[in-house]
Amino acid sequence: MCGIVGYVGPRDCVPILLEGLARLEYRGYDSAGVAVVGKGKLRVRKVKGRVGQLTQDVPARLSGPVGIGHTRWATHGVPSEQNAHPHVDGSGRVAVVHNGVIENAEELRAKLIANGVEFVSETDTEVLAHLIAAVDVDDIEEAVRRVLPEIVGTYGIAVVDTRQPDRIIAARNGSPVILGVGDKELFVASDVMALVRHTSQVVHLEDGEVAVLTADGFSTRTLDATVTTRPPTTVDVEDDDYQAEGYGHFMRKEIHDQPTAVERTLRGRLDDRFGTAHLGGLNLTPRESREFKRVKILGCGSAHYAGQIGAQLIEELARVPADSEPASEFRYRNPLIDPDTLYVAVSQSGETYDTLATVQEIQRKGGRVLGVVNAVGSSIARQCDGGIYLHAGPEISVTSTKAFTVTTVDFALLALHLARVRDLSPADGQRLVRGLRALPSQIGEILKLEDQIAGLAQEYGTCPNVMFIGRVRGWPVAREGALKLKEVSYVHAEAYPASELKHGPLALISPETPTVAIVPDDELYDKNLTTLGEIKARGGRILALAHRELPSALADHTIVVPRAEPELDPILLGIPLQMLAYHAAVLLGHDVDHPRNLAKSVTVE
Ligand code: F6R
Repeated sequence: MCGIVGYVGPRDCVPILLEGLARLEYRGYDSAGVAVVGKGKLRVRKVKGRVGQLTQDVPARLSGPVGIGHTRWATHGVPSEQNAHPHVDGSGRVAVVHNGVIENAEELRAKLIANGVEFVSETDTEVLAHLIAAVDVDDIEEAVRRVLPEIVGTYGIAVVDTRQPDRIIAARNGSPVILGVGDKELFVASDVMALVRHTSQVVHLEDGEVAVLTADGFSTRTLDATVTTRPPTTVDVEDDDYQAEGYGHFMRKEIHDQPTAVERTLRGRLDDRFGTAHLGGLNLTPRESREFKRVKILGCGSAHYAGQIGAQLIEELARVPADSEPASEFRYRNPLIDPDTLYVAVSQSGETYDTLATVQEIQRKGGRVLGVVNAVGSSIARQCDGGIYLHAGPEISVTSTKAFTVTTVDFALLALHLARVRDLSPADGQRLVRGLRALPSQIGEILKLEDQIAGLAQEYGTCPNVMFIGRVRGWPVAREGALKLKEVSYVHAEAYPASELKHGPLALISPETPTVAIVPDDELYDKNLTTLGEIKARGGRILALAHRELPSALADHTIVVPRAEPELDPILLGIPLQMLAYHAAVLLGHDVDHPRNLAKSVTVE
């Protein structure tokens, strides 16, 4: 949700800002802008549209050693040049870029208007520029520190002031801000992605911290001016992870990355001899692992669906009641926090605000939360009491693919670990370890089905409505498959438990509404075939995902997926659905990596 970037140093900031913004575009792509400080002047360029348009629009003479930039996902006010950031105070002295939502913006705006301030945009952010400029001190850091206590809501901000043209002020509350420390140059961004080309040395700002960045270094303090400056840490990502070369789109690249990503997440964690998984970051003793009475998994969107697969794995293997709930709902319903429940927060980005707020709420009420997170050092990873990193590598496509799959693998590891300190036999543990080890090559086999799936995409992925069904293990797979199709192809896809079809949705079945059915060769195989018969009897077309070719009387087409251990089947069954959604979106001519209205990393409520 909005990307911010800033540079201070000996180089011209403009190309650095534009390249950083291009890398942050997955966070929002409806408008973009930069502000450059040089020779005592502030120069601002903004466009409605993508960073590419901004790059074309920026005049060659716009250059300077200090600047900030922004790519926007609109929250207050339509996408337009006026509403694009940076926002500037009336005298043209102070410029601000902001990620987050200022909840009391209307109240602050009314006060400023009463004092004669004129607003040029509809955004919440503009109040910050006016408030900071109005503070009667020479030092911009102090001005920022004086204003922020008035702000209710979330922010990651970067501020420049022509009166102190050698610095950027950054601050955070609830929205990520990362400093990049180079050689005589400093960077700031809302994601390491915008920094790794220049430096691997980073500092994650904490909530309530304000940083001053100059070419000579940085300092951090709390809002009440207590010094908090700490040394940078090294980020472990490769610049190559940010190139989609050879694949056309990041979504396709990330689908094809999955064998490697799964191998990486399994590395060093499987124990063949004892048939278990070792997860160093859990911070749970065997006794604690045996004592809790429930597991509650919380995440949003695909993370919630991966959590549903995780809950089934944990309940089935460790025999402890487990369920998954959208974090965005949980946090608003004043949930009972039970000391005997193990809470697990799931997030690829580690920055989803609803999930972060959920973790904080559980902890406030004395609960213990483990994180299943991809982004190392992210807000959720740091907030949790322990956890598992996915090691899936950066996921750039707005639509999650490899992070979803790797999350389900990590839940299988967690379930195995918990099961083996509870009541799973060593033999079953060893069976599952073998099953997990086989996954990367089985995913490789599924990827070879791409031509077949691309051929089916026209028939099953581009019609106005598609039904996805699955039973028990297949049900979260169906939900995730429908979400993928919706997101990138804008096709209306509805996911239902196969068992529920005859309680209502069967009325939707017709030759125009095909069904994608998840039919693993498990104990519910025959029940699933009965459902397929009911759909066929109503003239519905069926694409089945199964472990063997289904009779043509029951399925018009079958995608045959390699068999895993039955408990691990959902991990593999989701992958053809990612390819189906991808190829449908390509056929429909959509911008696959930047679906309309969406942004990765939803850092607003
Ligand atoms: C779907 C998708 C979203 C995210 C959700 C949570 O393809 O990407 O549904 O899964 O916004 O994001 P994270 O996992 O970053 O918390």
